[in-house]
Amino acid sequence: MVKYSTVKKKLKIAVDRATDNGLAHLTHYFQNHVNGVSQHYRKPATEYLSLLSDELGLVEEPQMQMLLPMKFDVPFPPPVEYDFTFIDLFAGIGGFRIPMQENKGKCVFTSEFNFHAQRSYELNFGEIPFGDITTLDLDIVPKHDVLTAGFPCQPFSISGKMKGFEDTRGTLIYNVFQIIEKRHPKVIFLENVKHLIHHDGGNTLKTILKDLEDLGYKVSWKLLNASDFGVPQNRERIIIIGHKSKKFDFTKLKTKPKPVLKDILEIEGEFEFLNEPYTILDDYKVQESGLIFIGYRNKSIRKAGVRPGTIHLSRVHKQPNRIYSTDGLHPALPSQESSGRFWIYHEGKVRKLTINECYRIMGFPDKFKKINNTGELYRQIGNSVCVPMVKEITKQIKEQLL
Ligand SMILES: C[S@@+](CC[C@H](N)C(=O)[O-])C[C@H]1O[C@@H](n2cnc3c(N)ncnc32)[C@H](O)[C@@H]1O
Repeated sequence: MVKYSTVKKKLKIAVDRATDNGLAHLTHYFQNHVNGVSQHYRKPATEYLSLLSDELGLVEEPQMQMLLPMKFDVPFPPPVEYDFTFIDLFAGIGGFRIPMQENKGKCVFTSEFNFHAQRSYELNFGEIPFGDITTLDLDIVPKHDVLTAGFPCQPFSISGKMKGFEDTRGTLIYNVFQIIEKRHPKVIFLENVKHLIHHDGGNTLKTILKDLEDLGYKVSWKLLNASDFGVPQNRERIIIIGHKSKKFDFTKLKTKPKPVLKDILEIEGEFEFLNEPYTILDDYKVQESGLIFIGYRNKSIRKAGVRPGTIHLSRVHKQPNRIYSTDGLHPALPSQESSGRFWIYHEGKVRKLTINECYRIMGFPDKFKKINNTGELYRQIGNSVCVPMVKEITKQIKEQLL
C-alpha cells in the first residue's frame, strides 16, 4: 500500500474537453449562474451550446435560461439561499446531496461516471454529473467548503475481492486527494464500508488518515450504524471527517431509538412472496444488532458430516436463505447485487422488500424519483448512503467546523 505522495506524479490526468462533458458543464453552469462559480463552466457550456445549434451562436446567460428545456421542476432543487458550498464526488444517486441541501448546502460540482446513476441524478437534482474522476481537468472543480465522497467500496468490502489499493478502484481516493490539494476545502467528509478498518491489517485506513494529515487536516473517524439514525437497517459504515484546525467530535451526534421494519412497510404493493418451502422457528431472539433471524428457506443441503440437529444451521449459513422478522431490522442492503434484499416475515407471510421500501430504509424521501430497471434500482440504492445519518453528521459539521 503506497502513500499519496509517492503515486501522485504518476496519476495521469487527461484533459476534459467540452464535448465529453457538455451537458454536465451546461447544467452546472445554470445552477451556479448567480454565485460566481459559473466561471468554471461558462466557456465549455457556451461551446457546447454552439455545437448544439449554430443558430443560437454565442448565447448569454438569461437567453439560455429561456431557450433551453432545462429541468428546474425537480424534487430536490438547489436551495435559493445557502450557508455553505460542497462538492459531491462518486455522487451515485445523490445520497449525500439530499441531506447536504436540507442543511442549506449548495452543491457546486458533481462527479459520477455510471450512466444510469447520472440519469437518476439529473431527474432528481436537475444537474448532470461530470464523468470519470480520473480524467477530469481539475481546474473545472470550483473552490468549496465541504468535499463529500463515498468512494467506491468494493476493493475494501468483504463481498468484493478486497484488493484495496491494488484494485484500480481502490486508488480513486488519490484522485480525491488531488482535488483536496488543489482546492483546500474546509471540511473533508468521507464514507466507506466497515471493512476498510480491517483491510490489510489496518494499514489502508492508516495510510488514508496519514495522507489527509499530510495534506494539512486534523482527522477523526468513527463506525456508525444507520439504525441509530431512524431507519430500520443494520448498516455499519466508517465515516472520516477532516478539518484544517479542529477534530470533529462524533460524540455530539444525536442518535435515535432503533425503529423496526414493520413501521416503514407499504400497505399495498407488488409483493414478491416466497413460494417454496420454508421453516419458521418457534424459538428465536433479537440479536444485538437488532436483527431477528426467524426462519430459513428449506434449501437442499449437504448432509454428509453434519451433526444431527444442526442441519438448519448449514442451511442458514447462506444469507439468501435467511428470513428476518419485521419486528426487527433489515440487514444492510448489499451494493453489488441486483436483487439486494432479504426475505422478511410479516403477518404470517414471507416476502422481499419492495423497491420503495428499500429506498425508505436508506432514508430517501418518497418523492425521490426512480427510473431505470429494477435490478439497476436495487444496485443504486445498495450503493448509496443512509440519508438521515448524513443529515445529522452535516448538521454537526455546520455547528462544529464551518
Ligand atoms: C459507493 S458508491 C457512492 C454512492 C453515493 N454516495 C450515493 O449516495 O448514491 C460509489 C460511486 O462511485 C462511482 N464511480 C466509480 N468510479 C468512478 C470514477 N472513476 N469516476 C466517477 N465515479 C465513479 C460509481 O459508479 C458509484 O456510483
